[in-house]
Amino acid sequence: AATRTFSIIKPDATRRNLTGAVTKMLEDAGLRVVASKRIQMSREQAEGFYDVHRERPFFGELVDFMISGPVVVQVLEGENAVKANRDVMGATNPADADEGTIRKTYAESIEANSVHGSDSEENAANEIKFFFNDDELVG
Ligand code: CMP
Repeated sequence: AATRTFSIIKPDATRRNLTGAVTKMLEDAGLRVVASKRIQMSREQAEGFYDVHRERPFFGELVDFMISGPVVVQVLEGENAVKANRDVMGATNPADADEGTIRKTYAESIEANSVHGSDSEENAANEIKFFFNDDELVG
C-alpha cells in the first residue's frame, strides 16, 4: 500500500536552483509530492527538528547550515515511501553514496548533503506533523 515520508531539500540545493532537479529524481523514483512549501527555518525550528542530534558534535553547525537559506519541505507518497526515498537519496556522506543517487549527484559534503529523508514510518509521521497541517496534504 502507498505510504508517506517526509523530505527536505536543503539550503545547498535551493541555493544552486536544484529544487526542480531534486524533485524530478524523487518523482522518477516513484514518489509523488502531496505537499510542498519553501520556508526559511528559524533557529528554534531547526533545533527542534534535529532534537535527536542535540548531543552530537555537529549539532551547532548542522543548525547553522539548515537556517543559512531557504529549504523546501515536502511530503512524499508511494509504495514503501520511506525506503524508496532513502534509496534514491543515497548515503548521508556523498563520498559513500551510490551512483545515480541524489547525494552522489548533487551533495557538496556530509553536512551540505542536499536532502533529508525520514528514516522510519514513525519518524515520518512526526516530521510531517512538525511542518504540515492535515489540510495541507493533497493526495
Ligand atoms: P540528515 O539526514 O538531515 O540528518 C542529520 C544531518 O546531520 C545529516 O543529514 C547531515 O546533513 C548532518 N551531518 C553533519 N555532519 C554529520 C556527521 N558527521 N554524521 C552524520 N550526519 C552529519
